[in-house]
Amino acid sequence: MSDQLEEDFVNHTTDWINDDTFCQPPHDPEFYNNPYALYRQLHEKPGPVFWQDYQLWCLAGFDAVSSALKDRRFARLPPLDVSASPTPSHLTDFAQVEQHSLLQLEPPDHTRLRKRVNRAFVARQIDSMAPDIEKLVNQCIDEFVDAGETDLLTSLATPVPVTVIAQLLGVPVELKDDLLRWSHDMVKVYTLTQTHEQEVTANQSANEFRACLVDLITHKRQHPGDDLLSLLASSEDVDTVLTDAEIVSVAVLLLNAGHEATVHQFGNLVNTLLTEQCAPRGGFGDLATAKKVINEGLRYDAPLHLFTRYAQVDIEFSSGVTLAKGEQIALLLGAANRDPKRFAEPNRFWPDRPDGDHVSLGAGIHFCIGAALTALELRIMCDTLFKRLPSLELIETPRYRNLFHFHGLETLNVSW
Ligand code: HEM
Repeated sequence: MSDQLEEDFVNHTTDWINDDTFCQPPHDPEFYNNPYALYRQLHEKPGPVFWQDYQLWCLAGFDAVSSALKDRRFARLPPLDVSASPTPSHLTDFAQVEQHSLLQLEPPDHTRLRKRVNRAFVARQIDSMAPDIEKLVNQCIDEFVDAGETDLLTSLATPVPVTVIAQLLGVPVELKDDLLRWSHDMVKVYTLTQTHEQEVTANQSANEFRACLVDLITHKRQHPGDDLLSLLASSEDVDTVLTDAEIVSVAVLLLNAGHEATVHQFGNLVNTLLTEQCAPRGGFGDLATAKKVINEGLRYDAPLHLFTRYAQVDIEFSSGVTLAKGEQIALLLGAANRDPKRFAEPNRFWPDRPDGDHVSLGAGIHFCIGAALTALELRIMCDTLFKRLPSLELIETPRYRNLFHFHGLETLNVSW
């Protein structure tokens, strides 16, 4: 770990109200630029800690987070007999689009929908996308290579994942700018700190997104192609026929989840590779090395740090804290990945570590469906970039965006 980071850990002060309750404003720049300083303090506490600003109990340890992700007593939705808070009228379109999202479902509906979507994400299907992804990455690099410098987030990280997921779904690539706008607007609603105005914009974007997809689904039924929307819209398998509303929810989730996190993971990984001494930049051509570097990058600086779960029954922790049925708890994925009880030298980027693992892609029934696709995209983007621009270096130290949940950089300005 760099001396500067070590100093940040020591200097960071969190306001502890008592042994298990703390204040940490999520918009504090010192915090969102380096949430790991807080996590280090959380790891010293024995059980769940209460985050006053979010009014949420949190789990930060690796074992606790990874067990909760797999434990059916914690679910993404409130228990059936505990009524969820009603949808505010300015968010009805957003809620409608979300209604059948895999992330809003539990078995048996989740199982039925996931089985259908899984077909497009089998390894063979994903691997066959490699030549197209490589071509796309090279085209993006061609556009900026003569300039001598670029913001990699804008020129490479943003166009690649959205184009790949649009092609996979069969959404015309010309709609890329609309897709990005709708997605950026919608994901703000997951930050728990969004404004009313942002919610209104997200609702409008959800409405436009749905209208566009409904037209496309109608078209795919008449003219099916070799894409995921056509597959989802077909009725060849009567056991798993999907409604239009279900297809819309699946497509929106794939587009939103499919590019936002990949954009920021690419930024975080390249920043790490350019900052950390001894980080391998040239090993992405070798599959085994690439896998280790990408997995360690996901552990070391993940793009998604907080997911919530509802207790389905009263749950008592060994520290004495009880989570009441229907209460929410935050799972701090970014903290779990740096747990000193699980990882030797947790604050060191160490691709060859003997204890490699992470929870950045979740676990259990909601485990990320795009895990293989994201690994493929990251490998091809890094491999092509470092092969074509081996002298790549940072122009300035990048800063993180003011969005704790979506831990990603504002810009990644590099030269070569
Ligand atoms: C670095 C990139 C990515 C990260 C860090 C990431 C992370 C995650 C995490 C943590 C979850 C579980 C959420 C929970 O349990 O509450 C998840 C689920 C999901 N992810 Fe990803 N993801 C990434 C890329 C992708 C891509 C490329 C796609 C699609 C093309 C995708 C699609 C999904 C879907 C559909 C789910 C919901 C699965 C379900 O509920 O069954 N993700 N992802």
